[in-house]
Amino acid sequence: MSTVAYVPNPAPLGRLVVIGLGLIGGSFAKGIRAQGLFREVVGVDLDPASRQLAVEQGVADRCEEDLATACVGADVIQLAVPILAMERVLSVLATLDLGNAVITDVGSAKGAIVAAAVRVFGAVPARFVPGHPIAGSEKSGVEAARIELFRRHKVILTPLATTDVAALALVDRLWRALGADVEHMDVEHHDQVLAATSHLPHLLAFNIVDSLAKRDENLDIFRYAAGGFRDFTRIAGSDPTMWHDIFLANREAVLRVLDTYRYDLDALRAAVDAGDGRELLGVFTRARVAREHFDKILARRAYVDTMHSENDMIFNAQPGGTLSGRVRVPGDKSISHRSIMLGSLAEGTTEVSGFLEGEDALATLQAFRDMGVVIEGPLHGRVTIHGVGMNGLKAPPGPLYLGNSGTSMRLLSGLLAAQAFDTELTGDASLSKRPMNRVAVPLREMGAVIETGADGRPPLKIKGAQRLKGMHYDMPVASAQVKSSLLLAGLYADGQTSVTEPAPTRDHTERMLRGFGYPVTTEGNTARLTGGHHLKGGAIEVPADISSAAFFLVAASIAEGSELVLEHVGINPTRTGVIDILQLMGADLTLQNQREVGGEPVADIRVRSAPLKGIDIPEALVPLAIDEFPVLFVAAACAQGRTVLTGAEELRVKESDRIQSMADGLKVLGVHAEATPDGIVIEGGKMGGGEVDSHGDHRIAMAFSVASLRASAPIRIHDCANVATSFPNFLELAKRVGLRVSHEAVS
Ligand code: S3P
Repeated sequence: MSTVAYVPNPAPLGRLVVIGLGLIGGSFAKGIRAQGLFREVVGVDLDPASRQLAVEQGVADRCEEDLATACVGADVIQLAVPILAMERVLSVLATLDLGNAVITDVGSAKGAIVAAAVRVFGAVPARFVPGHPIAGSEKSGVEAARIELFRRHKVILTPLATTDVAALALVDRLWRALGADVEHMDVEHHDQVLAATSHLPHLLAFNIVDSLAKRDENLDIFRYAAGGFRDFTRIAGSDPTMWHDIFLANREAVLRVLDTYRYDLDALRAAVDAGDGRELLGVFTRARVAREHFDKILARRAYVDTMHSENDMIFNAQPGGTLSGRVRVPGDKSISHRSIMLGSLAEGTTEVSGFLEGEDALATLQAFRDMGVVIEGPLHGRVTIHGVGMNGLKAPPGPLYLGNSGTSMRLLSGLLAAQAFDTELTGDASLSKRPMNRVAVPLREMGAVIETGADGRPPLKIKGAQRLKGMHYDMPVASAQVKSSLLLAGLYADGQTSVTEPAPTRDHTERMLRGFGYPVTTEGNTARLTGGHHLKGGAIEVPADISSAAFFLVAASIAEGSELVLEHVGINPTRTGVIDILQLMGADLTLQNQREVGGEPVADIRVRSAPLKGIDIPEALVPLAIDEFPVLFVAAACAQGRTVLTGAEELRVKESDRIQSMADGLKVLGVHAEATPDGIVIEGGKMGGGEVDSHGDHRIAMAFSVASLRASAPIRIHDCANVATSFPNFLELAKRVGLRVSHEAVS
């Protein structure tokens, strides 16, 4: 157990001197002074008006013109002068006896300042701590100084190996006292990052405005310049002298990013010249996604603010309600993943409709974009994939981040084991705990080279350029992900790959491969294919996901007086365990309008409420309802009598340990629920309300939302953000049909 030591408020330090009373120096002085961290804050500036204003506005206790008068006897000296003036100030400081004073600065290019310090002092003094606050405003001067300027902004300190640890800790503490989020980086890395994220965009903005302004027709150009021009060039209004200093000071790093940028710009020019629409689409779709991603990061303020990722999203489910109406839940997650994978490897274009725009399927989509596939959309469930052929994927620029999605990681590991390049697959905290040896071990038998993290968990490092050989595999667990992973590897393997499953699991991979013209046979529980064929792109219509529909099948069954129709639901026989189990419990479900769409059977399902009874769930149905158990446990809690589930230990290694998460939550609601190693025993009865934890598992969160229909008091469900992985509009649809669940303000 860790204990928190009591740290008394340290006594104030003696004197802080801030040299350069502009926006940054002024705000630093004012903020520190307001905190009372020093007995005295002294400002230095060449401009008498700034010195006078600084005192009048409470930025400093007093101001001096002369450096020696201000600095001798100081504890901390902050240099906030323009970068190119730093060396001059440092050379004056070098002539003074500064005792143990800590010197720090705010310059935006660190290499140049460190070099100046070396020239002046012979070596960087141990008590000099280079720093850079990433904050500013279009306003300048001491009159714009604000105590809050650095709050929730990053401050990067770039200590050297020789920097005094106590001096570094002191500067770190001062910035934190101003509410800044302090990070440490080495000098070169800082300069390279800033060259790319700040200096290059400023250079381009200045450049484009100047380039257009000096043309003869400039008047017209500016007269018709619309929002795009204005947005892109806003930063060309920045302080020219300051930026002139920055480019001279960070010359080398800027040149490096500028050269890379010129290379990419030339490639884009060549694409325009050659009329290469696919190349243009590739750049634009990738950029758009990256920009949206960046916006999301910004919305959570991650760039300027640490912490908030652990925000708890709470669902508040009020008791009672009756369901009615017709709804179509989002597209099938399993089929959406596979449409991207096979569409990418196909020849020609694949048009997908009904695609699930949830985070899991989007993680797969992004992974293929990262491997060079041009993918348009998704827009209203439509995705256009410009297939690259079986051997057309390219090495991604970095690890493929798959978020919460086990399906992405397991299926991709098979597919990537056969590519010419190396890959690394990573995921979020939940995915990082899930077992991957179930795919890594048999794939290695086929000749794949895969390294896992500890205990066979992610990340997975997959070595490319391996020759795979087909094999037969008897799967120890019934898992469609394992089967699919091996079949995808088998597409590239020499000879035949066959997989026998202990019980039937979802067969979307086999069906879709056939739909793309790839021969796959199924005999009993064995699926078989031979490597070396091709895939032909086409149209895929993704049915509504029965796993998402399941929440409403149970909801309408348990809420008295309900009648609901779920439209266009996929009823592939390897997925309909939930219907069978509910019918065994006495549910009133009718399949209407049965049809086949793109190789998958589909129906509208009508549900009317009915009294349910507890049952012993047949083990043969477990793999066919594997994702639906959380909500089936809610049905069991509302049924009369006892429901017993066995043979379902797989539930313990899903997005959470679903047996434990559900047993714990049901107990909170007053239900008798006993977890067993491979299942659960639930006694139906009355349900109260309370606080339950979804453990970040989307299906647990939605299951307890459904439970509220029969609860006698509100249920608050914690950690619900991951509902977006499979059912992004759950709350909206749930509300529309009569559930009383909403998202509570974030804590
Ligand atoms: C899936 C298979 C199942 C299921 C998962 C999706 C798939 O996992 O739980 O949500 O798309 O192949 P297992 O193969 O681990 O049972």
